[in-house]
Order: sequence, then structure tokens, then C-alpha cells
Amino acid sequence: MLMDNFLVRKMEIHDLLNVGRVEAATYDNPWPQDIFFRELVENEHAHYFVATLNDVVIGYCGMWPVVDDAQITNIAMHPSYRGQKFGEKLFRQIMDYGMHHGMKRLSLEVRKSNTVAQRMYQKFGLVRAGIRKNYYTDDGEDAVVMWVSIE
Ligand SMILES: CC(C)(COP(=O)(O)OP(=O)(O)OC[C@H]1O[C@@H](n2cnc3c(N)ncnc32)[C@H](O)[C@@H]1OP(=O)(O)O)[C@@H](O)C(=O)NCCC(=O)NCCS
Repeated sequence: MLMDNFLVRKMEIHDLLNVGRVEAATYDNPWPQDIFFRELVENEHAHYFVATLNDVVIGYCGMWPVVDDAQITNIAMHPSYRGQKFGEKLFRQIMDYGMHHGMKRLSLEVRKSNTVAQRMYQKFGLVRAGIRKNYYTDDGEDAVVMWVSIE
């Protein structure tokens, strides 16, 4: 019997095409691939991961450690794989990674209208810390700042 093999690993340059597919299927204004390229090659502080299912990239997550705060830059699952707990598994592993690398908090911004992601974050104990007005440059939507202690 073939078992599905879900894995989270560091993002590599050869993943960028597939990460771009996840990004394009997720956002109206996706990050261009050169942003991911620069994050991997030029930003020594950035930590990027892909989630794979049977070796196929189905999602990704990025994190910047800022002092002892693990700041999530983005997380996305390909729409075909949502609602199957893969996002949750990916997020849990990122939290564990931050914890094992001496981070004391994990924080992120999320669109005010993005109740799906907010619900997932709440499951991991993240709470609202405030609002950043007009945070998103494409449409001026507010961001909700959320955080959790991971000490
Ligand atoms: C947010 C995202 C990564 C979640 O990934 P996912 O694999 O679909 O989520 P999971 O199946 O692991 O579900 C985890 C939790 O998320 C919430 N959730 C997921 N889908 C939901 C839906 N359709 N409606 C409401 N809540 C939902 C639930 O709390 C769920 O836990 P539960 O099933 O026990 O209630 C995914 O929806 C996504 O890529 N969204 C687009 C990109 C995005 O919004 N990223 C966040 C930027 S800050």
C-alpha cells in the first residue's frame, strides 16, 4: 500500500518554479520568483521551507529571526491541498524550528479579512496584538498582528 509521505525541508533553488506555482495559485499579486531567489541566496538571516507530499512541493513558509522573535514572512498551501491539515503540519514544524533555534516569540501579520489563516494561528495559541492600518500596499487592507510565546 502506498502511504502519502509528507515532509517539511529547507527550500532550495530548484524548488523555486514549484514555489512560484503555489504563490501564483494563491495570491492576486504573487511574489515574483526573484524575491524568493534573493531570500535564499542573499539573505543569510532568512529561513525558507517547503512542504512536500510524495516529493511534490505543495506549500511553503518563510521566517526571519529578528533578535529572538521568529517573524513569519508568509505561509501558503497550494489550493488543491488545502483543508487536509497540511498547513497545520507545516506551521507546527516552523514553530518547532523557531523554538529549537532559541526564538522566544513567533509573530506575523495577516489580512484582517483572512479568517481562515487567523483560525489556524489561534489553534496554535497566537493572539491578536494589534492592527497595522493600511498595511497591504495593493489594496490598503489592515493587517492583524498576531503572536505567541514559544519559550
Ligand atoms: C492558511 C493556510 C496555509 C491553511 O492551510 P490548510 O492546509 O488549508 O489548513 P489545515 O487544513 O491545516 O487547517 C488548519 C486550520 O485552519 C483553519 N481552516 C482551514 N481551512 C479553513 C476553512 N475553509 N474555513 C475556516 N477555517 C479553516 C481551521 O482552524 C483548521 O483547523 P480545523 O480543521 O481543526 O478547524 C491555507 O489556507 C492557505 O494557503 N491560504 C492562502 C494563503 C494564506 O492565507 N496564508 C496566510 C498568510 S498570513
